[in-house]
Amino acid sequence: VQNYSHDFGPFDGAIWLNCSHQGALPRIAAEKLMEAVSWKIAPQHLTQERFNQIPKYLKELLGQIIQRPAEEIILANSASYGLHLVANGMRWNQGDEVLVLRGDFPSDILPWLGLADRGVRVRYIKARAQTVTADELSEAITPATKLFCCTWIHSFTGGVIDAEAIGDVCRKNNVRFVMNCSQGLGARVLDLSQTNVDAITCVGFKYLCGPYGTGFCWMQPEFRESLHYNKAYWLSIQTAEELGADSDEPPVLRKAGAKTYDVFGTANFFNFVPWTASLEYLLQIGVKQIAAYDQSLVTQLLNQLDREKYYLISPEDPASRSTLIVFSSHSRNDNAEIYERLRQKQIFIAFRRGNLRISPHLYNTPQQIDEVVSLLNST
Ligand SMILES: Cc1ncc(COP(=O)(O)O)c(C=O)c1O
Repeated sequence: VQNYSHDFGPFDGAIWLNCSHQGALPRIAAEKLMEAVSWKIAPQHLTQERFNQIPKYLKELLGQIIQRPAEEIILANSASYGLHLVANGMRWNQGDEVLVLRGDFPSDILPWLGLADRGVRVRYIKARAQTVTADELSEAITPATKLFCCTWIHSFTGGVIDAEAIGDVCRKNNVRFVMNCSQGLGARVLDLSQTNVDAITCVGFKYLCGPYGTGFCWMQPEFRESLHYNKAYWLSIQTAEELGADSDEPPVLRKAGAKTYDVFGTANFFNFVPWTASLEYLLQIGVKQIAAYDQSLVTQLLNQLDREKYYLISPEDPASRSTLIVFSSHSRNDNAEIYERLRQKQIFIAFRRGNLRISPHLYNTPQQIDEVVSLLNST
């Protein structure tokens, strides 16, 4: 088995098993960041070509991750950014309803709550298992439902939605479907050609191994064009070269497709240069290969975890697993203390909603899983 851990770190002796919070930056990306810093120290290196190329190339790589054309990618600084584009851009009517999943990550709920003053109501689906099923969604939809927003992989249960089936339910009922892929892209293949989704949004700083403050959004072109959003960023409409023209003609507002929605500062050198390097690195290995590697660590952990001591909250079945392993001590009150004990040994997992969560990625090794499980089992 390939060992990817040398492409990351140094971790100063720590074991980082919390990719669902922050993915580690590959070394190559850190090197590229230093290069970008050197351009700003001596700004003659911040050339026009770099200015133009950085967002363009980043979009190409993100397009490869989701197998969509680069020109359909919207650059962002978070997952919330794309969700707000949709929330603020849709043409809402008084009495419209948005369905969300109770217990979902707050980013997926808050943007819609902000529409209350436009008469839009948010209603919650309570999932019976780890996440919402197509049947549960189907039962919850009413004639007022205009949109369903949900996470692909649940941050607190590790459950994965059946995006195809959910997309079909939405399409059948004329409901827009927005999916937050933050906990999956980079560790799992997403086949958009099989999924009726109107928009996806994703952070760059988890499984895509980018710096914090990165993200992107993609929308079906037809959906994107239907949005009404008052945003006219000069760099989406013209290039910096055009500033050389000997004219004070007022700028002309014109449609620029997905570019119109890019977060301001599209040549964000310190974030986008290293993120680009991370994506190049991941794509070189291949998402399928990464998914297989990550799943081998998940399987190892699940096989070794002492079930007399712990019970699993995330899915057990290999077909419905993610890279988020959520579990609890049979005496739930012990979880906080177990988390703390691991932390003191420089093993970083997550403590979320009363449970323990382990989320490995490429830089983790089977030896690290052995180490964490033997500590968990002997605690
Ligand atoms: C599903 C999900 N969405 C979004 C985020 C973060 O979102 P944002 O980029 O909006 O801060 C997280 C975790 O940090 C998450 O688990």
